[in-house]
Formats: sequence, C-alpha cells, structure tokens
Amino acid sequence: MSTFQAPKGTYDLIPPESAKYLAVREAIAAPLRNSGYGYIETPGFENVELFARGVGESTDIVTKEMYAFETKGGDQLALRPEGTASVLRAALEANLHKLGNLPVKLWYSGSYYRYERPQKGRYRHFSQVGAEAIGAEDPALDAELIILADQAYRSLGLRNFRILLNSLGDKECRPVYREALQTFLRGLDLDEETLRRADINPLRVLDDKRPDVQKQLTDAPLLRDYLCDACKAYHEEVRELITAAGVAFEDDPKLVRGLDYYTRTTFEFVHDGLGSQSAVGGGGRYDGLSEMIGGPALPSVGWALGVDRTVLALEAEGVELQLPALTSVFAVPLGEEARRVLFAKVTELRKLGIAADFSYGAKGLKGAMKNANRSGARYTIVAGERDLAEGVVQLKDMESGDQTAVGVNEIVAELESKLG
Ligand code: HAM
Repeated sequence: MSTFQAPKGTYDLIPPESAKYLAVREAIAAPLRNSGYGYIETPGFENVELFARGVGESTDIVTKEMYAFETKGGDQLALRPEGTASVLRAALEANLHKLGNLPVKLWYSGSYYRYERPQKGRYRHFSQVGAEAIGAEDPALDAELIILADQAYRSLGLRNFRILLNSLGDKECRPVYREALQTFLRGLDLDEETLRRADINPLRVLDDKRPDVQKQLTDAPLLRDYLCDACKAYHEEVRELITAAGVAFEDDPKLVRGLDYYTRTTFEFVHDGLGSQSAVGGGGRYDGLSEMIGGPALPSVGWALGVDRTVLALEAEGVELQLPALTSVFAVPLGEEARRVLFAKVTELRKLGIAADFSYGAKGLKGAMKNANRSGARYTIVAGERDLAEGVVQLKDMESGDQTAVGVNEIVAELESKLG
C-alpha cells in the first residue's frame, strides 16, 4: 500500500522550519496585544450563509473557493475562508458591542481554507493572524491598524514591502461610481464572463490581471474622483495620521479587494519578492458588514496578515529570524545509575526554565553525542559509573570543546549561572 500524502495545496509545518511560523505569528500578535486587542477564537467552520452574505455572493471566494458541505444532521456549513465574518458573528452573539466599550478590539490566529489553484504562496489551507476593531468610525483606528501591521513586519526584519492604500467610498458615493464604471466597461471589448462580472460586481474587473484587459482599463473612471466629501475628508485624515507616524504608503486608486464588505479605507501589504502572490496581508473598513449579517450598524475596520506568505517574504529577503535555542543543555547518561541521576538533573533544569533534553533509548556514547550535537545544545553533561562514584559529572562546552568535572550537587547551579 502506498503511503498517504498531504492533500493537494496543503503542506505540513515540520521542525525546524515550523519554528519560523510560530515566530511570525508571535511577532504579528505582539503589537496587537500591546494595543488593547483581546484574543478571540472562533470555530473552523460556520454556517455557509454567514460567508455568502458576509464575504459576498459574487466573490470568487464564495462562488468557487468555499469548502461547503452538508453535515449528517443536515446543516449547511463551510470551512472558514476568512476570519472577519466569523469574528463579527461571535462579537454580536456575545453582545460585546453592548458592553458600552466601543470599539471592541479583537485579534485572532488560525487556519483558513480556500479551494484555490495551488501555486507558490497560494494554498488551500493557509494561516492568518488578524485584527478587527468593531463599532467605531474614527480615522485614527484605521491608521492604528496600518501602523501596527507595519510595526509587525518591521519587527521581523522585513523591509521590501509596500503599503497600498485606497478608499472604496461609502453607500452614498460608491453607487454613483459603480454606474459610471459599468457604463465604461460595457463599451469595452470584453469576453462574456467579464461582462457578466461587470454587471454584478464591476469593481472586481479593475482587479483583472490579464494584460489585454488592463490595457483597456487605462482610462477607466477612478473612485477617487467620485468620493463624497465625507469619504474624502475621512481618507485624508487616515493618510495624514499614517504619514505623521512615519509609515510610508502608496496611493493605489485601482486597489480593490476580493471580498465585498469593504467601505472607505482599504489597503494591502505587498512584497516584491513573491512573484504573482505578492499580497502578504490586507484589510480595510467594513461599515456595513454587521447589518449584512443581521446585526446593528457597527462601523468597523480590520486586517489579516498571511503567515505563509510572510515566511516566504522573509526567505526572499534572506532574513534569518533570531529563534530561541531549542535546547541549551543535553544530558548523556552512560549506565543505569547515571540515567536516574541525569534524568533528575534535566527535570530540575527544566523547572528553572532552562531548555534541556536527554538521550533516550539505550545508546552508546558515540550515538548519544551525535544527538547532543544535533540538538544544538550549548552544553552537554555526560556521566558514567566512574564519574558518579567520584561524585561528579562531565560538563562539556560544545562551542569550545572544553570538558571539566563538576560536582553532581553543583551542576545545576553551575549551568544556571553559565546560561543566565
Ligand atoms: P484576504 O486579502 O483575503 O483578506 O487575506 C489576507 C491575507 O491572507 C492575504 O494577503 C494573504 O497573505 C493570505 N492569504 C489569502 N489567501 C491565501 C491562500 N490561498 N494561500 C496563502 N495565503 C493566503 C481577508 O481574509 C480579510 N478577512 C482581511 C480583513 C480583516 N479585512 C478586514 N478585516
């Protein structure tokens, strides 16, 4: 029988690589925790209707990419393709918006599922860390989120990313623009499917990657020229606040997003070393989403950063993360008595917070020392019958190769002072 493989479009995170993913998640979460965002976790699947209404019936995500299924009990569910709709659903369900403390600021980290055509940077199972600030209309909140994402990427050592910024208007000005764009698109030489898309969701056509389509779009009307005064003023303030924070961005009047809930501020973080899947993160304001899923008016803003693509971006820039050593001390016992003594020492070290590991399985000195080397430990303690008879263990500095005898009762304190 052939062995199983991970499903198409998925991959496993395996040590030592997996440590990078943890570090990336941690680096994105740190500025959020530091800014009043509380941790939220929602189920990996939801009622399919939540995404259909929230993300949008005409989006690729809902029409083509959703893992939707019927349960044995007859429920229509879908694996979550994104986090915003779920987080808002959970906040509404828990009445967080009624606690009189708006905005409700939440962050999350988890797996998301989209049935996409797999390629480098695009997977069917991927991981995001996201943030949502629910229930406040304040340009400073939009600015805060953009600044925190910038801080997260920079703390990882990432430099070659750009922030693209746009405003998608609101329910006053967008319909006017939508019609102007539709009129323009109908005059172009487009295929059936694209024309259909122009009817249902004309803004998505701006995002068409095909060069012949892009060429025809050169003179397309821009939302920028249709924004109402309120949207214009809002956007200007977001721009000023980010600029004052020293965060560089580019205005991208053609930036549209693959989800329908956005209003006003929208942004994307792109990395130039990633080829076609260049978006390492994205987000924006979604002032109407709460009402779309049956809640009260709750203007909100958020983003999600892709962990997989952030790791690829770090690799593309050649950034080596400063990962904590997995093991500082490795214990190599020779014989039964030594096994018991060193195992107790390892337990003691661990209690003190020192990363320690042990040579398991009956191994000879040579094999055990190989394991010690592979572990990356700075120090190895070796003990045999004769050492213990003399009341000592051998402490080997794996960097210098020096070896000294240290008293059995002193070894833990000695290692603590050396590693402290
Ligand atoms: P999104 O732009 O669809 O937005 O996804 C955010 C990020 O997730 C992308 O920039 C990318 O890094 C990563 N990502 C998306 N799809 C894949 C994939 N198939 N493979 C690998 N990485 C992927 C959202 O999901 C919104 N919920 C963001 C948001 C939060 N807006 C407001 N609040």
